[in-house]
Amino acid sequence: MSLLVTGLSRLVTNDPSLGQGPLGVVEDAAVVLDGPTVAWVGPASSAPAADEVHDAGGRAAIPGFVDSHAHLVFAGDRTAEFDARMSGTPYTAGGIRTTVAATRAASDAELSANVARLVAEALRQGTTVIECKSGYGLTVEDEARSLRIAGEHTDEVTYLGAHVVPADTDADAYVDLVTGPMLDRCAPYARWVDVFCERGAFDGDQARAILEAGAKRGLTPRVHANQLGHGPGVRLAVELSAASADHCTHLDDADVDALASGNTVATLLPGAEFSTRAAYPDARRLLEAGATVALSTDCNPGSSFTTSMPFCVAVAVREMGMTPDEAVWAATMGGARALRRTDVGHLGPGARADLVLLDAPSHVHLAYRPGVPLVSAVWHRGERAV
Ligand code: NIG
Ligand code: FE
Repeated sequence: MSLLVTGLSRLVTNDPSLGQGPLGVVEDAAVVLDGPTVAWVGPASSAPAADEVHDAGGRAAIPGFVDSHAHLVFAGDRTAEFDARMSGTPYTAGGIRTTVAATRAASDAELSANVARLVAEALRQGTTVIECKSGYGLTVEDEARSLRIAGEHTDEVTYLGAHVVPADTDADAYVDLVTGPMLDRCAPYARWVDVFCERGAFDGDQARAILEAGAKRGLTPRVHANQLGHGPGVRLAVELSAASADHCTHLDDADVDALASGNTVATLLPGAEFSTRAAYPDARRLLEAGATVALSTDCNPGSSFTTSMPFCVAVAVREMGMTPDEAVWAATMGGARALRRTDVGHLGPGARADLVLLDAPSHVHLAYRPGVPLVSAVWHRGERAV
C-alpha cells in the first residue's frame, strides 16, 4: 500500500542532493511512502500516483526525531529531589541510587509499562527511534532484566551496568562484576556499552576497562563524558572510536579537537542542564571546530525527565548557539549518526518511512514557538502512529 503525502510547504530531507542547503529542503513538496520505506520525494507538481493521498494543507514535514540517549527502564519518583534542587540543593550522581532501589523493587510488568508509556509519549512528540539504557538495576539479574525489557520496546539497547557503584560496594569489585559475570549475562541483550565516566562514578581507567571489555563482546562503546566537570571521558571515547560522547558540557581545546578529528559524535543533552540548572554545553564551539553534533533528551528521572525533542531543539537554539537548521539536523540526522544508522534521520528514496508533520509552515517553528505542541501527525515505519 503506497501513500502520497502532498501539500507540504517545506520538506526537510536531510539530503542535500534532494533540496536546498544542508537540510535538503524541498518547497511545495510531496513524499510517497511505500509500506515501511520512502519511495519518492520531490516537488508536489511532479508527484507520482499512489494508492492513498494525504493532503498536508501547507504544513511542514521533517524526518522522525532520533533520540540517541535515554534511560527509560526505571521505577519510582524523584520529584522531591528536583523540587529541592530548584531551591538550591546541587545535583549529584548519588540520586541514581534512589531510582535503583525503586527499580529493583518493581515487577517486570511495571517496568515494561513505564517504558511503553515513555516511548508513546516520545512518539507523540515526533520521536520515531529511541535508544534505551539499563543502569538502574546494578546487579547481574536486574541489569539483564532491564535490558530484556528495553529490547521489548526498541532495537537500540545499551548496557550501562557502569552507571554508578552501588551503595556499600567496593568500586574495584564492582568493575570486575561489570566486566565479568554481568557482561556475560547482559551482552546478548545489548548493542552498545556505556559508562558514566565522571567524578563520583567511574574514573578514566575504570571506564576504559569497561568499554574495552564490552567491545570484546561485540558491544560498541558510547560514553557519558564531561557532564558535571572536566574529565577523561571525551578523549577516551574518541580514542576507542566510541559512536558517541554524550553531554560534552565541560570541554577543553584538546577535547574539542579530538571530537572534530575523530569519528565520535558529540551528543548534547540540554534537558540535563535545564533540569540541574547548570551551564549549557557550547554547541557553537563544536560546530565551528567541525565536530558532528547530535541532540538528545537524556530522558531519566533524575537529571532530565523529558521525552521532548522539540523542547531540546528550542533550548539548543536559545542557549547553545545553534541555528534552527543545525538543531533540527542534530535532532534527526545527528541522532542517526550517533547510533550509526543510515536508514533513519533523513527522508529520501530507500529511507525508513518515519515522517513527522508539523502544525507549522517551517521546521524553524520548532525553535520559534517553544513549548507549543507542533507535532500534528507521525508515520512510523510507514504506519500512521499519531
Ligand atoms: O545522563 N549521567 C548519568 N546518568 C543520568 C542521570 C541519572 C540520574 O540522575 O538518575 C544522566 O544525566
Ligand atoms: Fe544519561
